[in-house]
Amino acid sequence: MSKKILITGAAGFIGSHVARLFVIKYPDYKIYNLDKLTYAGNLENLKDIENSPNYQFIKGDIVDASFINNLFETERFDAVIHLAAESHVDRSITNPLEFVYTNVIGTVNLLNAAKNIWKDDFSNKRFYHVSTDEVYGALGAEGLFTEDTSYDPHSPYSASKASSDHFVRAYHDTYGLPIVISNCSNNYGPNHFPEKLIPLCIYNIKNNKPLPVYGDGKYTRDWLYVIDHAIAIDLVFHSGKNGDTYNIGGFNEWQNIDLVKTLCKLMDIKLGREIGTSEKLITFVKDRPGHDLRYAIDATKINKELGFYPSVTFEQGLEKTVDWYLSNDEWLSNVTSGNYQKYYQEQYN
Ligand code: NAD
Ligand code: TYD
Repeated sequence: MSKKILITGAAGFIGSHVARLFVIKYPDYKIYNLDKLTYAGNLENLKDIENSPNYQFIKGDIVDASFINNLFETERFDAVIHLAAESHVDRSITNPLEFVYTNVIGTVNLLNAAKNIWKDDFSNKRFYHVSTDEVYGALGAEGLFTEDTSYDPHSPYSASKASSDHFVRAYHDTYGLPIVISNCSNNYGPNHFPEKLIPLCIYNIKNNKPLPVYGDGKYTRDWLYVIDHAIAIDLVFHSGKNGDTYNIGGFNEWQNIDLVKTLCKLMDIKLGREIGTSEKLITFVKDRPGHDLRYAIDATKINKELGFYPSVTFEQGLEKTVDWYLSNDEWLSNVTSGNYQKYYQEQYN
């Protein structure tokens, strides 16, 4: 069936993998990529599909309500997959308002525009909001986040995502807008901006720079390969129940310090260095304020209802990721020139 699908933030890390999957797998769909191209948005991520007949890029800001309303009036999208966001916790600590504008107001602008063009007939329409497990707050040593876990965000980033999730549900409950939400664990893989732990460590190991581990390194995250997240998004988009929430994860918890050591070993092998060389770069640095101790997703619902399971193990995914970074020097040097250096200085020195 032919559909016009707006994917927001598709020049970013996860969005680019989702857009590629949809453009290739569904030639009958027309995929529109709406992106402001912030520091995190990069059209290089979509070079291989940019000339596909069913793909179109639109540069624009979701915070600009009149632009968004006009765009929806003109294009009459059938569905929205909303990924555009400010996504880095450390930046949210420095500049929380930016996160309120994009993540909260930007989301409400999209909800309004979708409601206005669909209000006479909600059938075959869908507003899919892509969110994070960070809305649930922090776990202790035990337990997992389920779809029923109460929201308890701690960082300005997670508070803004929690707020946007609440607005999406409010539009469903109040106006009947057909929605679905997914909350995923930490992603890793190709095209990840090197401000996040895994690509930052790969970049620093390659360049013999210190590997900044916050606090004692005992914080735990649950990691999913980005292409598996895109596969899960495809399943939720097509088969998720109207109004429902799906947690996405692969039962893959790692303490940061163990993850960084594993990465060091893999990089030593790939770079032909003596094992143990990269580990010497590990440097414990000042902790992140309000640092959540542990995230871990219970993915039972999406396993059982939609048959989602990760396609790669963590070892396979990490090796694919390292190989990608080592063979995409130009991408890495483009995104780490200019403003990245300034950001790095301010964050780590
Ligand atoms: P990212 O920072 O790599 O990409 C965000 C994209 O949004 C960029 O292309 C950026 O240019 C665009 N954007 C930002 N502000 C915009 C605006 N005002 N208007 C239009 N476009 C704008 O983020 P990501 O890691 O790909 O995350 C995508 C989504 O998935 C986010 O909503 C995030 O909360 C969610 N998520 C991320 C993870 C993760 O581990 N990265 C995990 C779970 C959920
Ligand atoms: P990050 O990749 O920023 O994702 P999130 O904060 O959304 O989980 O961080 C992952 C974990 O790694 C988190 O516990 C913070 C930690 N971390 C470091 O120890 N050093 C770093 O330089 C960064 C960026 C993160």
